[in-house]
Amino acid sequence: TILILDFGSQYSHLITRRCREHNIYAELQPCTLKIVDLHFKPKGIILSGSPYSVYDKDSPHVDPAVFDLGVPILGICYGLQEMAWALKGKVERSEHREYGFAQLQINKIHEGDSPVNALFQGLGEEMQVWMSHGDQLCEIPPDFHIIAHTKTAPFAAVAHNSKPFYGIQFHPEVTHSLRGKEVIGRFILNVCGCRSNWTMEEFIGKEIARIREICGPKGRVIGAVSGGVDSTVAAKLMHEAIGDRFHAIMVDNGVLRLNEAQQVHEMLNKNLGINLTVVDASDLFLSRLQDVEDPEKKRKIIGNTFINVFEEEATKIEAAANEEEKQGAEAKGRIEWLLQGTLYPDVIESISFKGPSATIKTHHNVGGLLKDMKLKLIEPLRELFKDEVRALGRLLSIPAPLVQRHPFPGPGLAIRILGPVTREQVRILQQADNIYIEEIRNAGLYNEISQAFAVLLPVRAVGVMGDARTYEQVIALRAVQSEDFMTADWYVFPAEVLRRISSRITNEVNGINRVTYDISSKPPATVEWL
Ligand code: XMP
Repeated sequence: TILILDFGSQYSHLITRRCREHNIYAELQPCTLKIVDLHFKPKGIILSGSPYSVYDKDSPHVDPAVFDLGVPILGICYGLQEMAWALKGKVERSEHREYGFAQLQINKIHEGDSPVNALFQGLGEEMQVWMSHGDQLCEIPPDFHIIAHTKTAPFAAVAHNSKPFYGIQFHPEVTHSLRGKEVIGRFILNVCGCRSNWTMEEFIGKEIARIREICGPKGRVIGAVSGGVDSTVAAKLMHEAIGDRFHAIMVDNGVLRLNEAQQVHEMLNKNLGINLTVVDASDLFLSRLQDVEDPEKKRKIIGNTFINVFEEEATKIEAAANEEEKQGAEAKGRIEWLLQGTLYPDVIESISFKGPSATIKTHHNVGGLLKDMKLKLIEPLRELFKDEVRALGRLLSIPAPLVQRHPFPGPGLAIRILGPVTREQVRILQQADNIYIEEIRNAGLYNEISQAFAVLLPVRAVGVMGDARTYEQVIALRAVQSEDFMTADWYVFPAEVLRRISSRITNEVNGINRVTYDISSKPPATVEWL
């Protein structure tokens, strides 16, 4: 394991990702972690960047014990300054921030494969890197060498004479640093000596064993499924581990995509063999959504109604098991666990360092659920990034189209219908969205796009059909490419694909006479319209 100590940089999670891409397990912890509280011995430690300056009054500092642990340490940006600060180097405040590309010149210190050269071994004499810093080193700590420089940063990378301590001013974790992933690889593989054994093949076996152990021979688990990647993979993993002692519940909230409830039933129950109940609660949801336009209210209503319906269904499942038992069937055991498809980015979000006043935020989107049943949470995906979940899904034989599916928000079409949500508005949007996605798939573009969907606008426009004037609604199409949905670029479609989509929607969907394409990026827009 590589331990990443987070000082609050916006790129910290990317360091974790890059280590994982080398098939090495990396875990992020706040920089305030005390080494005595560490529950494992890392093979190496990476100190992240930070928005702070080491000289700020309230700037975060690492437990000095890390430098005595006897494991390799790599400081990135603020991490370098922190290391220099702790080891008696000097950092100077700079008038201007350096932000952008720089050309790194690598200094060859010793011949051959001296550990001092290890970070850039075999990577040539120059590389493009990404800088984002205010302060910089102005005097290296005793026993350190300068191993690389740029035009503006004479101490762009340093290494200790005899200990495995390295510091770099640039950000190897961002893709703009063209060979950054390799630099991280040099550190974790060559310096720390990690073996690339973090693979989903290994993960499946270990996780199934862990689930079996914590559930015991009788414990039962319930969980909600949505038809999305995370809940399907989590459900399938539970099914592999404990079979029918896992019970999945799918709530049809009336704002799902076209035929989604049937498709989820078909896939999860019929194809994957998962014990599943589909609850049609669309009337209840739509009645509560009547006349509601405010997006946050829509979200709240859907979230709360979901909890009501799910709870009621879980209680029914428990009652049915008790009834069977009374009739003489073998006791089924209580439902003790609630499955959640929490992913590592949510965990990072809740544990990452957010400054001295930060409070730890819990990230369970059905928090408070089933209080009376006193369920404990089971989160088999909480160590995984999305691409790892997808790899896991493929290994669990979940069909490729499902594994590659775009994300779909919990409040569903309710936040894509800009006015009030009615059955008729849902019907229009479902049909338009279905045509849109179908044509994207036909054009072979689905996997190139991170998320695509249609939005129903609450305006009417004039059109003409035959000899008659029409006055109907407008569909907006949205498609974006994004790494993590914090930023997103609008997708450039070939014109003929847009032409086909527009023509099909206006011809086939009653109530729509106009289609527009959204060419806004995030920021300043968001991905969803509400
Ligand atoms: P925004 O609109 O914030 O979307 O740029 C970023 C990503 O988050 C999804 N999203 C949601 N997901 N409940 C969800 O489960 C929500 O209320 C919600 N709002 C946005 C959005 O689809 C995109 O993938």
